[in-house]
Amino acid sequence: MLRIAQTLNGQLLAAMERAFPEAVQRAREAGQPLDPQLAPASKPEFGDFQANGALPLAKPLGQPPRAIATAIVEQLAADPAFGALCEAPQIAGPGFINLTLLPERLAAEVQDRLRDPRLGVPAVEATAAGAPLAPVIVDFSSPNIAKEMHVGHLRSTIIGDALARVLEFRGHQVLRLNHVGDWGTQFGMLITHLKQVAPEALTTADAVDLGDLVSFYRQAKARFDDDEAFQTTSREEVVKLQGGDPVSLKAWGLLCEQSRREFQKIYDRLDIRLSERGESFYNPYLEGVVADLDACGLLVTDDGARCVFLEGVSGKDGKPLPVIVQKSDGGFNYATTDLAAIRYRFAAAPDGDGACRVIYVTDAGQANHFAGVFQVARRAGWIPPHGSVEHVPFGLVQGEDGKKLKTRAGDTVRLRDLLDEAVERAEADLRRRLAEEERSEDEAFIQHAATTVGLAAVKYADLSTNRITNYQFSFDRMLALQGNTAPYLLYAVVRIAGIARKGGDLEAGGPGAAAAAAAPLIFTEPQEWALVRELLRFDAVIAEVEEELLPNRLCTYLFELSQVFNRFYDQVPVLKAEEPARTSRLALCRLTTDTLKQGLGLLGIPTLERM
Ligand code: ARG
Repeated sequence: MLRIAQTLNGQLLAAMERAFPEAVQRAREAGQPLDPQLAPASKPEFGDFQANGALPLAKPLGQPPRAIATAIVEQLAADPAFGALCEAPQIAGPGFINLTLLPERLAAEVQDRLRDPRLGVPAVEATAAGAPLAPVIVDFSSPNIAKEMHVGHLRSTIIGDALARVLEFRGHQVLRLNHVGDWGTQFGMLITHLKQVAPEALTTADAVDLGDLVSFYRQAKARFDDDEAFQTTSREEVVKLQGGDPVSLKAWGLLCEQSRREFQKIYDRLDIRLSERGESFYNPYLEGVVADLDACGLLVTDDGARCVFLEGVSGKDGKPLPVIVQKSDGGFNYATTDLAAIRYRFAAAPDGDGACRVIYVTDAGQANHFAGVFQVARRAGWIPPHGSVEHVPFGLVQGEDGKKLKTRAGDTVRLRDLLDEAVERAEADLRRRLAEEERSEDEAFIQHAATTVGLAAVKYADLSTNRITNYQFSFDRMLALQGNTAPYLLYAVVRIAGIARKGGDLEAGGPGAAAAAAAPLIFTEPQEWALVRELLRFDAVIAEVEEELLPNRLCTYLFELSQVFNRFYDQVPVLKAEEPARTSRLALCRLTTDTLKQGLGLLGIPTLERM
């Protein structure tokens, strides 16, 4: 109801202006224009909206707020456009104005949404000059080469993908960047080990695969830790690699390629699109970053290292903390790469991405790193005035015991195994239910449904908790048919698909849908109105997620919508109702399923017609 809220806001402002012209004028001159303080009603019995703008006017006007509210309401009553939208406003408490939309307005709004593939969510507008909008970058997933992708990367992948989908749906051009850890001193030891134990790998591309590559990493690390000669060779290897030695580069490329193939399997299963732009991409820009920082006077040499001291951030000893951009041995680090990345991302094309907003999805443990990088970039002038950078932090994944998630044997959990187990358990649940209901289904159906439910459960469990808190991983909880879970939501969609099959007219273009689009919808029952109001919140929820980057807001909404729908469907007859109630109620079913499918789609979760 964002559009309606905007209209109401304008009408309230105009009413305030007519009731108190001098006060409005004075406020405007003071640079603090009046605000009707319009918000969704805090309780359904207060109507749809409430406007609290009368209260702050009490002091400057020297009048009781209820009298001010009364004067505003009188002006509203004189506005025919307002009369076409709302019932007579009620004044409550000290001077709140409660607004209730006319039933026919709400019904017309439902009808508009039935015809609108965007379900009332406005698309971002192109600039006045018709120039394309500046891209939004979502930096997510970003695992490290030669290491297994862990549950932290899974969280980043799921959350980042959902945010990217919401931004794309709003019409933004989104660059989904995978800032893969594909560079660094660890490659010295990996390449040295590769050359010694598997020289043939340098001639055959498929000689090592990642399962091996992870233990390969461990072996290399073990040798590095207790073999001095190996250490020396590894250090020389880093220098060779950085110097562009072709054999070293080839070995590096092989290691990256092997990892990439393994990562891609996870992305394919989860339907994640990403463009890889790893740390190595920024190598040619690192010197320039340091030179730039030097030129703008930010660079200080401290103990041989070149760094920028942060403002307002000090360590235990009370001294300001540095961001080290070049180590005393001349090497660069994670922060230098991120500085190069941020500079590149905001720089105008063709020298960069020309982004207007850059979003980083990583665990909360990197908060200080990003705060430092953002501050340095800002002081260096790399972030344009309207550019925004946001770190989107998330908490740890814990086992049901509240400790770090581990396998029973105490090892780190491999993502592949975790997804397999979710699907296996979903399959077992499904087979149990089929047996109970004495239903028989073919294998293809069972596999498809189990895969969809299992993966949906993993994604939804992650997305539905506030990402900032730690998150307890529990297969039992995420696969439950009751509660705020993926199966519960998927089941609501299935239920409506069943109604459609029986009613035969829910499909877009079907007779019921066409009737719903033509005849005015008539609602009489409180359960219908509750569902109407819930459905019409969708646009505001999407706007909120876009702004606050909290996918759990969308999850909570979809859960509440399903609950309100189930109450409606349990208490009000639909297929057995008389016309015009039948058509109107089928229209609500259809808009509910459209909204659930769209909402789940934005979370990266496909739906089922049967389960
Ligand atoms: N590779 C890093 C890690 O595994 C995450 C990178 C996040 N993105 C960034 N621009 N620093 O922790």
